[in-house]
Amino acid sequence: METKVIQIRDIEKQKDDIEEAAELIRRGQVVAFPTETVYGLGGDGLNETAVAQIYEAKGRPSDNPLILHVNSMAMVRELVTLIPEKAQTVMNRFWPGPLTVILPKSEKVPKKTTGGLQSVAIRMPEHKLALALIEKAGVPIAAPSANTSGRPSPTRAEHVKEDLSGKIPMILDGGKVFVGVESTIVDFTSEIPVILRPGHISKKQLENVLGCEVLMNQGQTDKVPKAPGMKYTHYAPKANMILVLGDDNQKVVDKINEETDKEHQEGRIVGIIATDENMEFYHGDYVFSLGSRQSMDEVMLHLYGTIRQFDHTNVDVIYSEGFVGMEQEEAIMNRLMKSCGHEVIKV
Ligand code: TXA
Ligand code: MG
Repeated sequence: METKVIQIRDIEKQKDDIEEAAELIRRGQVVAFPTETVYGLGGDGLNETAVAQIYEAKGRPSDNPLILHVNSMAMVRELVTLIPEKAQTVMNRFWPGPLTVILPKSEKVPKKTTGGLQSVAIRMPEHKLALALIEKAGVPIAAPSANTSGRPSPTRAEHVKEDLSGKIPMILDGGKVFVGVESTIVDFTSEIPVILRPGHISKKQLENVLGCEVLMNQGQTDKVPKAPGMKYTHYAPKANMILVLGDDNQKVVDKINEETDKEHQEGRIVGIIATDENMEFYHGDYVFSLGSRQSMDEVMLHLYGTIRQFDHTNVDVIYSEGFVGMEQEEAIMNRLMKSCGHEVIKV
């Protein structure tokens, strides 16, 4: 299949291009498009054939449910049987934006979309192109991240091409995203809200708005993870990746250099995921920075692109700095831990 890539520079002037993508979605096909978090692979979330194509293109296990992207509260009401007050409060505050809510699903939502669950994940994205596409399609758009299952999520159209070229009919290239990690997922099907996946919107922000406790359940402790997606290997570069963690920055840099020297003795090529503050001190062969340690927003934005960048080098192993004791570290550490398959050195 030929994948058509359309660059969208001006949503107003390119209404016909967006209409072409919306038409594909209405016909039950799939289209990759940008959201503020990461690129999504979208299809009509109420059409089982479209949903099957999403799973197929990504190579995703079909018990891993999809998020429905909406552009209005009216659309949400069609998809659920109940909107608890707390859910309404966070939707009012954070939508459109990088927040997904889990609510009890209505009859309208096919089981295929929710991986057999009785609940459904819903989000109103902030990206103008995503909102325009949903509006034109006139249906909730089911969209997982537009990567091959297990690979880092795409933060530019180039990344989508790397993974899905030839497998989907269209990519809308709307440039770079502006958040960089996937939405915070909050489950409102029980009395106390539970974060199933940390993201740009932090636990603290949610608690401030709700005025109540919010629990954190990233899925590792349960036998049956609440967000099924959390049990799979994720966000992994092609080379083996090891995370080095510690409170003392100098010790982390020293440890990474010690490991790098050992790898060099064995003839291995070493990549480093660094930050601006430490970059110049490393002995690695390829040293890429996530940005300044002062800005977790910057680090989030660059995380997946940096991990993918190593796939274009010949590194055998990657050592990464970690982030301890900062607000929003939960979102970044959650991704880094998965990227390295929980292979961690503590100093
Ligand atoms: O920012 C995002 O959320 C991006 C963009 C494209 O919107 N989408 C995204 O989708 O990250 P995906 O499919 O890669 O991740 C969705 C996660 C999975 O871990 C899935 O298991 C979980 O949401 N999920 C979906 N429906 C659920 C449900 N009903 N109950 C619990 N977890 C659910
Ligand atoms: Mg994903």
